[in-house]
Amino acid sequence: MTSAERWPVAIIGTGTIGTDLMMKIAADDGPLTVAAMVGIDADSDGLARARRMGVPTTADGVAGLLVMPDFPEIRLAFDATSAAGHRANWTALRNSGIRMLDLTPASIGPFCVPVVNLDGHLDAPNLNMVTCGGQATVPIVAAVGKAGIVSYAEIVSSISARTAGPGTRANIDEFVETTAAALRVVGGALRGKAVMILNPADPPVVMRNTVYCLVDGDPDRHAIEEAIHEMAGRVAAYVPGYRLKQDVQFEAFGSDQPLYLPETGKFIGTRVTVMLEITGAGHYLPPYAGNLDIMTSAAKATAERIATHAARRAGAAT
Ligand SMILES: NC(=O)c1ccc[n+]([C@@H]2O[C@H](COP(=O)([O-])OP(=O)(O)OC[C@H]3O[C@@H](n4cnc5c(N)ncnc54)[C@H](O)[C@@H]3O)[C@@H](O)[C@H]2O)c1
Repeated sequence: MTSAERWPVAIIGTGTIGTDLMMKIAADDGPLTVAAMVGIDADSDGLARARRMGVPTTADGVAGLLVMPDFPEIRLAFDATSAAGHRANWTALRNSGIRMLDLTPASIGPFCVPVVNLDGHLDAPNLNMVTCGGQATVPIVAAVGKAGIVSYAEIVSSISARTAGPGTRANIDEFVETTAAALRVVGGALRGKAVMILNPADPPVVMRNTVYCLVDGDPDRHAIEEAIHEMAGRVAAYVPGYRLKQDVQFEAFGSDQPLYLPETGKFIGTRVTVMLEITGAGHYLPPYAGNLDIMTSAAKATAERIATHAARRAGAAT
């Protein structure tokens, strides 16, 4: 794809996620170009930054987007509002032919974690990018699942309270439900649970995630470690600050000393624990806000793949 064939996109939602995404796309020479920044608060920092950057803006929400002169050129809209906002925005846009990448946990479209399942969804009209915690941890669960049956996956995501805008705070329930579902549907775990911690520490803490996988029996530990490192490297290709905080940990539970799970009783097998840390690129908020980067980088990488795929199909059709 040449620069003359750049893909115009809109970003709906001018808070922390939407603004970070705008700045990330602008900082890169990839196929995407932000043709519209769409908010509902004319005084928001995100809209002010967009105006300073020369990006066309509207403070009239999706109704304003639909009447922007360049709307017919826009190929894809990122939604960074809230789960309720996305439901309304999808209703307004679904017949316009525009694709949507949903960065809220609304779960209307199929879940997309690019390193695990994007290839199966390149033509989906609405794709859900799960959650920041899901983008960080589902790849690890999928990696463990290559070497054993993950009968249960539990993740704990800890983010700085300063990085969670009102949209995030309104969506804590959706975070928990959507992340747990993605651990199963995309990660392949038989059961999943997600916990989110908004850490008020000052100075702010960097995003951390702990992934626990209960694997049946006595799996090949070396194969699990290799799969995790390989997967972490693939995520780090689009989120450079993504890394394992320490070595992968294994703990065996035999019939003489089983692990007791309240929901299912005794577990005999191996617990795999992975600790992740995600440092952000500092496009909008400082580098402790890795939770912004894991989401906006995943969404940007997904849109770029969709753009390349669409260009190839268009080329093949001519
Ligand atoms: N902050 C994070 O770490 C993070 C990470 C991943 C995903 N998310 C998800 O992204 C979404 C946004 O989170 P945030 O932290 O950026 O919240 P935020 O409150 O900072 O941003 C939301 C923005 O959307 C705007 N908005 C609300 N309804 C709108 C509508 N109908 N049309 C246009 N604009 C509208 C608001 O004015 C606000 O500027 C949430 O669903 C959250 O769960 C957040």
